[in-house]
Amino acid sequence: MTKEYVTDERRLLHGGDYNPEQWKDYPEVLEQDIELMKKSGVNTVSVGMFSWASLEPKEGVYDFEWLDQVFDRMNSIGGKVILATPSGARPAWMAKKYPEVLRVDSLRRKQLYGARHNHCFTSPYYRSKTQEINHKLAERYQNHPALLVWHISNEFGGECHCDLCQEAFRGWLKTRYNNSLEKINQAWWGPFWSHTITDWNQIESPSPIGENLVHGMNLDWKRFVTDQTIDFYKNEIVPLREVTPDIPITTNFMSDNPEFIPFRGLDYSKFAKEVDVISWDAYPAWHNDYEETYELASKVAFINDSFKSMKQKPWLLMESTPSLVNWHQYNKPKRPNMHYLSSMQILAHGSDSNLYFQWRKSRGASEKFHGAVVDHDGSAENRVFKEVSQVGATMDELSAKIVGTQRKSEVGLLYDWESDWALEDAQGFGLTTKHYPQTLQKHYQAFWEKDIPVDVITKENTFEDYRLLVVPMLYLMSEETIQRLNNFVANGGTLVSSYITGLVNERDLTYLGGWKKELQEIFGIEPLETDTYYPGDSNQIVYADQTYTVKDYATVIEVKNADILARYTSDFYAGTAAVTSNEYKKGTAYYIGARANEAFNRDFYNQLIEDLDLKPLLKVEHNIGVSVQGREEADQTSIVFIMNFTEEKQIVNIIEKAQDSFTGEEVTGEITLQPYEVKVVDKII
Ligand code: GAL
Repeated sequence: MTKEYVTDERRLLHGGDYNPEQWKDYPEVLEQDIELMKKSGVNTVSVGMFSWASLEPKEGVYDFEWLDQVFDRMNSIGGKVILATPSGARPAWMAKKYPEVLRVDSLRRKQLYGARHNHCFTSPYYRSKTQEINHKLAERYQNHPALLVWHISNEFGGECHCDLCQEAFRGWLKTRYNNSLEKINQAWWGPFWSHTITDWNQIESPSPIGENLVHGMNLDWKRFVTDQTIDFYKNEIVPLREVTPDIPITTNFMSDNPEFIPFRGLDYSKFAKEVDVISWDAYPAWHNDYEETYELASKVAFINDSFKSMKQKPWLLMESTPSLVNWHQYNKPKRPNMHYLSSMQILAHGSDSNLYFQWRKSRGASEKFHGAVVDHDGSAENRVFKEVSQVGATMDELSAKIVGTQRKSEVGLLYDWESDWALEDAQGFGLTTKHYPQTLQKHYQAFWEKDIPVDVITKENTFEDYRLLVVPMLYLMSEETIQRLNNFVANGGTLVSSYITGLVNERDLTYLGGWKKELQEIFGIEPLETDTYYPGDSNQIVYADQTYTVKDYATVIEVKNADILARYTSDFYAGTAAVTSNEYKKGTAYYIGARANEAFNRDFYNQLIEDLDLKPLLKVEHNIGVSVQGREEADQTSIVFIMNFTEEKQIVNIIEKAQDSFTGEEVTGEITLQPYEVKVVDKII
């Protein structure tokens, strides 16, 4: 992609998934759509996901007319089209005639035709048919002025265990292990319970029927699934790169619900490298009954910052709901003003779009009660349509100030898919209390509450871009990662890590001879034991004269050179070190040995924020639940969103100079935010 912005001009994208193929028998509805789009400030639609049966109703018989009309209609209102390739679902004729396109599940059961997101990633037929239809789409729309972005398939995920995939897995292993079964047996700890492999054809993907206890293999299978999915994606984009080299390519990533943690099925740190622009689908359960609204807001911010950090570029929100979804346990509509607030949060964290699923509620099938801009009443007068229109108008006004601007951060928080997979698989610790992603969310929240921007990075990022690196619970650490962390601290960086870190290598084999010597040197300690608590157990640590509760995990630490910042109060290790800090070469490394409560995270990180003089984009005093986030231009002008994620009125005090982004009026000093209100300001330099 050669363009500076995804849009030709600096225009934020507002709109979303549009399924005109479901409305071919209702021409009046299609006419109304265009009028309603104009009213709601919609300038972009995503079309073609799951449309294969409408594009190729019979093998080799194509119908693009309905799609031509969408392009032309959008163009007539100055709008754009994000064109999806249809591989996320396939026509019935194809599944009948070429059953190899259907998946086999981990129990080795062939799936029947139906639903979506369930094709085999290896099937040569499906790969070639996908290329063929993508080629036709590219040729047909290459010169259409409305074509904006390619959207590849939809929410890639899942795995297939068919014979073709088994063969591909074995091929992948041959490459990784240099054709050596001996190497595989070493990596997978083969002799354990007689799992030595003596012939390639003995290797099969993990299955619950055969108990997945070979952890090294489980990890390799997950890596393979990521690589095979990416390979399928790469196959899809061949004709698009060839015919439309200037059109950016994306695919919509996800999060895992309901906890709102990173999607666990694919290693996005690898996938991100293959797309031109990151896009993702956000469906937080606002107003739920198990967490404060601001806690969920912090989780949304975490994922936004993770997608932003993968490419260090503005990204696209590809899907969200303007009102409610249909697949949460309870599908509660957004309360008044929440849609506006959540849309602004997306922009604040680096998105250049706010796109919905879906434009119009479908009339039948499983998504007929899923929220949409246009409800079954077809009205522009209901609450949702009006709030969407308000968002559209605001986005239009803010476009020129926002599109293409960056978020900068001096703090990196490392999230690692491979480590998560290995730790989840590990039999040990508390089987249900490991909570790696949730722990990272908590560490992130301590910064979020203080408005300190955090990049949620992966091993693909450069550690040296940060002054502070937070790396909790990195169970799996390769020697290379250890070396990189060593260099980071040696060169003056500040590193924070925690219990359950650095225990196994990239093959999921433990390190021998105690904690790695390099880690011992960096942290000035050696963790001796990880104590795991029953849910009813607890301990306490005393840090800076305050006492904090510890649950789940406590590391017994032998201190070598480090200073002791906190000590345990009870158990056989009472009085010993729980939190330490160590000067190592030019930098400092902290080790948090116990899972202490949120109050500890707050106090510990506030001290670090102060020591390192980390600054928010705009200094604003406020209570917990208000978030101040924003974006900067290269010339340092910043747009800042002061967001109230609480159900109460909040008085905030803007310390630095700022002006209302819409009126230009100066707003420094105290202002009041109503529940869910957001104030958008420009920082005055
Ligand atoms: C997404 C999917 C959309 C739609 C939406 C409903 O996961 O990509 O096609 O089904 O969920 O929330």
